[in-house]
Amino acid sequence: MQQVEYKTFTQLRKLAGLKLHEVSELTGYSPRTVYRWEEGVAVPKKIVIDKMFDFCIEKIDKFSPENHTFTFIDLFAGIGGMRTGFERAGGKCIYTCEWNKYSLETYRANFSCDHPIGNDINYVLSKDIPNHDILLAGFPCQPFSIAGVSKKKSLGKKHGFEDESQGNLFFEIKRILDAKKPNAFLLENVKNLKNHDKGNTYKVIMKNLEKDYYVFSEIIDAQHYVPQHRERIFLVGFRKDRYPNIDFKFPKKPDHQPKIANILLNQVDKKYTLSDKLWDYLQNYAAKHKKKGNGFGFGLVDPKKQNITRTLSARYYKDGSEILIKQYGKNPRRLTPKECASLMGFDDKFKIVVSDTQAYKQFGNAVAVPVVEAVAREITKYI
Ligand SMILES: C[S@@+](CC[C@H](N)C(=O)[O-])C[C@H]1O[C@@H](n2cnc3c(N)ncnc32)[C@H](O)[C@@H]1O
Repeated sequence: MQQVEYKTFTQLRKLAGLKLHEVSELTGYSPRTVYRWEEGVAVPKKIVIDKMFDFCIEKIDKFSPENHTFTFIDLFAGIGGMRTGFERAGGKCIYTCEWNKYSLETYRANFSCDHPIGNDINYVLSKDIPNHDILLAGFPCQPFSIAGVSKKKSLGKKHGFEDESQGNLFFEIKRILDAKKPNAFLLENVKNLKNHDKGNTYKVIMKNLEKDYYVFSEIIDAQHYVPQHRERIFLVGFRKDRYPNIDFKFPKKPDHQPKIANILLNQVDKKYTLSDKLWDYLQNYAAKHKKKGNGFGFGLVDPKKQNITRTLSARYYKDGSEILIKQYGKNPRRLTPKECASLMGFDDKFKIVVSDTQAYKQFGNAVAVPVVEAVAREITKYI
């Protein structure tokens, strides 16, 4: 069993991933008392500490199986979509790197972090990263995504590898691969990575990776796993010196078709229903663009008639226009953050501990977990 190390009530509470009101619910003490523990004005009884400690252990046992069959590191971890997929395939995460404080709040609330967490990858020293079997990196896609590129172009900014702060992050991954030489890796990005800069970006990436690894790539549409059209490119690499005859195959598409109706909640707060003003605006905007012959406008889904949604993006928090759920007799509504979690394939117990805005950004940036899980199961056949 792993150790849970903590010095203060707050540290233990954070390890357990509990918010103050959840501690109050778990222990039966009033929120005011819990607040006093948090402030260090009062000290909780041993029975309270024991309860929280048990909660931590349960969580650690659940999320980091001690009987793991391989280890991995989670770079650009976001909220742990990649991690979840690889844990489901029997792996143990031994290092995390993520710089966004809100993503880290979600990450810590959902995963045991008995290992170091790096912040800005540009400053992470490879000597501080433990040896591992598989390196995971869903590196930022804005420098390569169609929307990101056109926005940067219109602002006269550099994109792709020329985007000095974000475009070069691939080379940080390469630096870590060179230093740590894991047996395998999984990189994930937007489909447009392949076409960015007329294919040159992809060429540079492949040339760098193929020096020491056999690389297999595939664009996978998550709609075969979750009710969402979401195409992403996956690059899987195996060390040439260890796997000279590797013949890796990406998973076969599952037969069943997931349905959006199956993940929608029955009771949804009315704040998710679009106001008349926003709904009018979206309809007028779409009509204007249709006349000009461009753009799709909003993406209205009737769960009685359609099975899948468009791609959930990190900008969903703005107006929700890419995925609107039809409601009979009233304006359409957005998905709730909980529904976004399901749409990305996180399970029901996944905790959302941040504002709606942050949650939408985090789920829009995440990977579809069951896709990663399926790829992980294929990779681990060889590890
Ligand atoms: C596309 S998201 C990855 C999401 C993740 N795969 C998941 O399923 O949640 C990219 C992540 O990289 C993080 N990131 C961007 N630049 C970074 C940097 N320089 N150092 C560390 N993390 C960074 C972002 O905050 C974001 O969470």
